[in-house]
Amino acid sequence: MDEKCNTELYHSRIKRVLITQEEIAAAIKEAGEEISASFDGHPILLVSILKGSFVFLADLSRAITVPCEIGFMCAKSYYNGTVSAGVVKITMDLEQDISNYHVIIVEDIIDTGRTLSDVVKLLKTRNPLSLKVVTLLDKPSRRIVDFKADKALFTIPDHFVIGYGLDCAEYYRNLPYIAEYDATK
Ligand code: IMP
Ligand code: MG
Repeated sequence: MDEKCNTELYHSRIKRVLITQEEIAAAIKEAGEEISASFDGHPILLVSILKGSFVFLADLSRAITVPCEIGFMCAKSYYNGTVSAGVVKITMDLEQDISNYHVIIVEDIIDTGRTLSDVVKLLKTRNPLSLKVVTLLDKPSRRIVDFKADKALFTIPDHFVIGYGLDCAEYYRNLPYIAEYDATK
């Protein structure tokens, strides 16, 4: 049997809940209200960076009460050791011409900052009306590239976290809360 399908082991690696479903829901409600209040008559495009942000996007989009569109991107950054600027490889790109949109990038977590700093640079070259970044989680202590989100719902210490879209080797994305992962088990 695949080790990851051992349910006892699977549950034992969920060390503790860091952020509950209720806390996430309350923060998303507030973020949705903020985005809705910023509506100025121009279209909003929520850009989800896959895969980690799919749960956050689903809930955030439903907390927004003004017209908005949704797009998906899959991005990976490649680096050679100490170099802090990298090349972002887009494995799936947006379909829309974004020049008529207020673009809001929706991300699960900012860690080193590399992926988002590259994605932001790339999307800016496409001249959106405006470009903002909202992230569910922020781990500022791990930053390698100087990058700040316009809104971070939760700032967390340097723990590896799972759940609510975030994975460890593709598992745990479906947990409804954010938990600390126990790598010692
Ligand atoms: P970075 O900011 O370019 O280092 O990369 C951020 C990406 O790394 C996120 O979008 C996640 O997919 C992944 N990541 C970083 N920290 C964690 C974590 O604690 N749990 C799960 N995925 C993480
Ligand atoms: Mg991600």
